[in-house]
Amino acid sequence: MKSLVSINDLSKLEIESILDMAAGFEAATNRKLLGDKVIASIFFEPSTRTRLSFETAINRLGARVIGFSEVSNTSVSKGESLKDTIKMISNYADMIVMRHPLEGSVRYASEISAAPVINAGDGSNQHPTQTLLDLYSIVKTQGRLDSLHITMVGDLKYGRTVHSLLMAMSHFNPVFRFIAPKAMALPDEYKKYLKSKNISFEEHVDLVSNIGDTDIIYMTRVQKERFSEPMEYEKLKHTYILRNAMLVNSKPGMKVLHPLPRVGEIAEDVDNNPKAYYFEQARNGVFARMAAICYLFGINNI
Ligand code: CP
Repeated sequence: MKSLVSINDLSKLEIESILDMAAGFEAATNRKLLGDKVIASIFFEPSTRTRLSFETAINRLGARVIGFSEVSNTSVSKGESLKDTIKMISNYADMIVMRHPLEGSVRYASEISAAPVINAGDGSNQHPTQTLLDLYSIVKTQGRLDSLHITMVGDLKYGRTVHSLLMAMSHFNPVFRFIAPKAMALPDEYKKYLKSKNISFEEHVDLVSNIGDTDIIYMTRVQKERFSEPMEYEKLKHTYILRNAMLVNSKPGMKVLHPLPRVGEIAEDVDNNPKAYYFEQARNGVFARMAAICYLFGINNI
């Protein structure tokens, strides 16, 4: 059994295998494959989709879930260290699903835990299971992952879903367009990563003139919780608002994705456009997470 901390912990073949399994779980969702397992869901940072879709996935697989969504109810509030907390939880559970605000904290947990650890988001670093559901959503809507035009918009600096997704898509010869103001531009380390893989990318500031030829628009929220200066967040929070009228000349099969939550960057008039896919995308999280959990337990044929 292994942990899943970064999307690069999975090979291209492993990712494809998990996506195939996700399709199997969507076709037949209640599979009691893990009736003997207890899985800990420990969230040191708020979550709606990730925690509840993981816990749904765990329940649908017949395993039992323990954990917390509020650190104040744990002995962390008495000063217990992350090391001791993880050691205790790995005494009780067969797997740990963990979200934490600090980059690298989940890797650290995976190194001291006796049980495999799944990263449910560590600061602005990685969110690998979000990437699995994003890839599953892309393949469901586009029929393939190869050679797509992907336009990522918004907070590309702090958005961990962007960082994980661009690394995974790099297996599939994408053309990327990054739309962000300078203050939220993609960090150099990810640009270097793409260059090392010979992946094409362009950087722009304007959204409207860059929609026409894209297959996927991946909108993101400005990550308020990562800003040390509240005024800086206030200045940037409404930089991009995708409106229905902006989609009029987009490709017929184009889809709008967003990891959610949205806080104004997609106007509600987009919701009824068939190109809006973000609510279905979130639903796909249950199937992708069922597949990831099973895969890490060594089940790769369902
Ligand atoms: N997409 C995502 O991580 O959402 P939550 O923060 O609600 O889990």
